[in-house]
Amino acid sequence: MSTRLNGIKADFERLFGSLPTKIVKGPGRVDLMGIHTDYNGGFVLPVAVNLDVIAAGGLRDDRKVVVYSQNFEQKSEFSLDDIVHDNVNKWSNYVRGVVLFIQEAGVKLQGANIVMHGNVPIGSGMSSSAAIEMATGFLFQSLVGFDMPGTDMALIGQKAENKFVGVNTGIMDQFISRLGKKDHVLFIDCRTLEYDQFPLDTSRVKIVVCDTMKRRGLVDSEYDLRRSQCEEAAKLFSQWVPNVTQLRDVSSTDFEKYKDRLPEVVRMRAEHVIYENERVLESRDVLKRGDFEGFGKLMNASHDSARDLYEVSCFELDAMAEVCRNAPGALWNRMAGAGFGGCSVSLVIDEFVEQFTSVVAVEYEKKTGLVPNLYICTAEDGASLIE
Ligand code: GLA
Repeated sequence: MSTRLNGIKADFERLFGSLPTKIVKGPGRVDLMGIHTDYNGGFVLPVAVNLDVIAAGGLRDDRKVVVYSQNFEQKSEFSLDDIVHDNVNKWSNYVRGVVLFIQEAGVKLQGANIVMHGNVPIGSGMSSSAAIEMATGFLFQSLVGFDMPGTDMALIGQKAENKFVGVNTGIMDQFISRLGKKDHVLFIDCRTLEYDQFPLDTSRVKIVVCDTMKRRGLVDSEYDLRRSQCEEAAKLFSQWVPNVTQLRDVSSTDFEKYKDRLPEVVRMRAEHVIYENERVLESRDVLKRGDFEGFGKLMNASHDSARDLYEVSCFELDAMAEVCRNAPGALWNRMAGAGFGGCSVSLVIDEFVEQFTSVVAVEYEKKTGLVPNLYICTAEDGASLIE
C-alpha cells in the first residue's frame, strides 16, 4: 500500500505542484451468493475486497475538475457546470457521472485536482467501475465535507453507471463498495436497501477469487436480455399471484404452481432467480452459523443454476468450477459478477490455501491454456478515508 500511496502522491505533486489533502479508497467486490438477483428486487451476499481504486485529491479555487489516471496515463478535464461524455478518456465517465449526479442531488461542489490508481482487474467481474465511482463520491465528500448516507451515494453511483455511462446494472456493486465492512459479509435487500452485516471467520476459511482471464464477452446485450426476460416473467406472474411487481415477489411454491404456463426460456430465467433468492436467505443463516460445508453446497448449486437455467456461464467458468471443486480445501466454487467470463469464487479451508492455489493454477491451465490469476481476498471496509 505504501508504495502505491507514495507513487500517487509523487504524481499529484508533479502534476499539481502540491500534495493532496485527502486520499480515499473505493473497493472492488465479490458476491458470495446471489447472481442476477439484484435487479429483480432480490437479495445478495457480497463482500468488499482488498483490491481497490485509490483517489487522492485537493480542492481548486475554480469550477474545474482535473483527473489523472495512473493506470491509463491519461488526464481528463471538465467543468462542474458542463459535464459531458469524454469519448477518449472513457474511464473518466465514471467520475463525471458521479459528480454530475451528486450536484443534481443538490450538493454544491467545488473544482478539484485528482490522481487515481486502481488494482481491481478491469473486465474481470470484480467491479472496477463501482470502485472508481465510490472512490470519486467519497473523495468529494471528504474534500467538500457534505453529509450523505451511504445508500444515497450508492444510488448516485448506480445512476452514473445506468444513465451516464449507459450500462444497466443493479445496485449490488455500488452498495457493497460504499457500505462494505471489514471482516464482514453484507446481506442486502436490493429492493428496500436494508442490510445486515455479519462476521466471516477468516481464521477458518479464505475467500479465493479466481480470475479465469477470459474477458467478459457480450455482457451488455445478454445482461439486458436477461433483465427483460425477468420482467416478462414477473408480468406474467402478476396475472396469477397478487402483488407481484418483480420476481422477488414470487415464492418457489407459486413458481411450481404456475411454471408450466411460462414460455420455456422465461421459465428457466425465473426458476434461477426465484431459487437463487432462496439460496441467499439460506446462505445467510448457514454462514452465520459458520457452516461452511452447508454454504459450499449452496455455492455449487448457485453456479449450476446460473449455468443451466440463466445461461450466463462459459467454457472457462465451468472449467474453473470443475478444477476448484476437485482441488484440496475447497469442494465449492461459483461464478461471480455478471458471468460470461471473468471471476469465480471459492471458500477455501485455511490450511489448504497454498495447496489449493497451486493445484488450481496448474489444472486450469491444462484445461484451458489460460494462466489464471488467483486472489486471496479479505473482506474490507467500503469507501473510506486513507489519509
Ligand atoms: C453485474 C451488475 C450487478 C449484478 C451482477 C449479477 O455485476 O453490475 O448489478 O446484476 O452483475 O448479479
